[in-house]
Amino acid sequence: MQKPRRASKTGKKTKPAARRVTRTRTVNLQASVKMRAAQVDRELGRTLGRLRDFPAHGGVSPPTRLLAAMAHSLLAGGKRLRPVICIESCVAAGGHAPAAFRSACALEMVHTYSLIHDDLPAMDDDDLRRGQPTCHKAFDEATAILAGDGLLTDAFLVLAQAPRNPLRQVTELAAAAGSFGMVGGQMDDILAEGQDPAQVELEAIHRRKTGRLFVASSVLGGLCAGAGDREIAALRTYGAALGFAFQVWDDVLDVVDTTGKGGKGVGRDEKHDKATYVRRHGLDGARFLAHQAADRAVHALKPFGKRGAVLAALARYAVERDH
Ligand code: IPE
Ligand code: IPE
Ligand code: MG
Ligand code: MG
Ligand code: MG
Repeated sequence: MQKPRRASKTGKKTKPAARRVTRTRTVNLQASVKMRAAQVDRELGRTLGRLRDFPAHGGVSPPTRLLAAMAHSLLAGGKRLRPVICIESCVAAGGHAPAAFRSACALEMVHTYSLIHDDLPAMDDDDLRRGQPTCHKAFDEATAILAGDGLLTDAFLVLAQAPRNPLRQVTELAAAAGSFGMVGGQMDDILAEGQDPAQVELEAIHRRKTGRLFVASSVLGGLCAGAGDREIAALRTYGAALGFAFQVWDDVLDVVDTTGKGGKGVGRDEKHDKATYVRRHGLDGARFLAHQAADRAVHALKPFGKRGAVLAALARYAVERDH
């Protein structure tokens, strides 16, 4: 039976202290994540600005139309989850946030490129992204392809300048984004359209097309802090579980996001006959599996103790978000 709420001296009902503390902590964590996302926005603006007069270009700038298309997608908003994970992983491993800024920007550039190409008519054929017309709608298809190519390639220009472990970071991100990772997963995703892949294959698609970039996000953060093998291994487990949970939840939102907050439309997966967790397990089954994976992500953070609190909150957010 629930205990009755205590009454204060004035007779007003008060919330139990434990719940108050938890709520305060949650609000603080949400505020830290918001603050980090705002930092990422600022750094992305600066990074694009620097591309105009990057020393290696010998004073030659990219074409204005190309930069405008890259900026259209990169600066359109977005949750900035991957760069925030990168920065918070750096902090959890004992580093300073600014040490991770270049890596964080590189991750968001790769992620944004993947969205531009994912939305193309030859792929998911979407008109809306981050609440705005997709890159090929705002510009044209050829420009959108090139804007994606530009963001992907320039991301490595940025990452090569990371202050710590640049070569290991470049290797990690290239392996996560390329044919072994995200691009491979996107191919599998297309091949699975109209199919009913076995559970194990479906999991492999989600782990590659989305999970690998989350792994890179947490691992790059650790590398920015000079983390040791044990911490890097923990961050790898965290990123993999979180990335998987994130994509399963994305499948759920594609069905239930009636708020329009996602800024990318709904019911797209069904239209394209996509192999998703909702299709295989139903809405409740998919929700359950996403929460289970988020629990695994939180569990992996044990070696970081209290320093892992924001990363844990991000894992919970991934499967509670409404967009
Ligand atoms: C969308 O990613 C693509 C997936 C991998 C599901 P996000 O939901 O992180 O998109 P933004 O960055 O917030 O726009
Ligand atoms: C995209 O998955 C994964 C990427 C690598 C971009 P989705 O196709 O489900 O992403 P949304 O729903 O369009 O954002
Ligand atoms: Mg897709
Ligand atoms: Mg898509
Ligand atoms: Mg989706």
